[in-house]
Amino acid sequence: MNNLSSDNSTQTTKQLGLIFLIGFMGSGKTTLGRKLASRLGYMFMDLDHIFEAQEGITIGEYFSKYGEEAFRKLESEVLKTHKYPEHAIVATGGGLPCFFDNMDWMRAHGKTIYIKLPPKTLADRLQNEKDERPLLRERHGEALVQFIAEKLEEREPFYNKANIIANGLSLTAERVEELLSI
Ligand code: S3P
Repeated sequence: MNNLSSDNSTQTTKQLGLIFLIGFMGSGKTTLGRKLASRLGYMFMDLDHIFEAQEGITIGEYFSKYGEEAFRKLESEVLKTHKYPEHAIVATGGGLPCFFDNMDWMRAHGKTIYIKLPPKTLADRLQNEKDERPLLRERHGEALVQFIAEKLEEREPFYNKANIIANGLSLTAERVEELLSI
């Protein structure tokens, strides 16, 4: 009997297609994405890394050289032209859902999951790894929390269009898998 029900759940989880993880910088899209992909036996892909490999330049360098507007255009192009496998977990850059029709495109091509965390938690997590993130350089302490709070408010209308909104505090890959099967 137990076998039957676990067979059913395996069946469901094997048909997930593309799962896009979205959320602010520092929300854990990459870490969680890797774990989820390994649980499901899917490929994990990170669009920031795909961008960097394709362009042969880090995102930080790209921003400095060409500016944010050029980055957003190319980021959207990478999202829409990359050849994805049938099933995969795709981590996206924090700003990606908020430009052009990227959010609608992801919803049309797969499932979207917003990993939601409060500004203070994001700031604590980002404190030591913000140098490679061009939008956060030069922001510290309370100014960093304030900046994140404002950006998050601006971005949440886009993030909230996700198929699933997951509380990012102590979020595990098991929990995401559970949310996906509902
Ligand atoms: C950005 C987030 C970064 C990267 C770029 C811009 C943003 O990705 O795409 O630095 O606008 O929030 P992560 O969310 O993976 O850090």
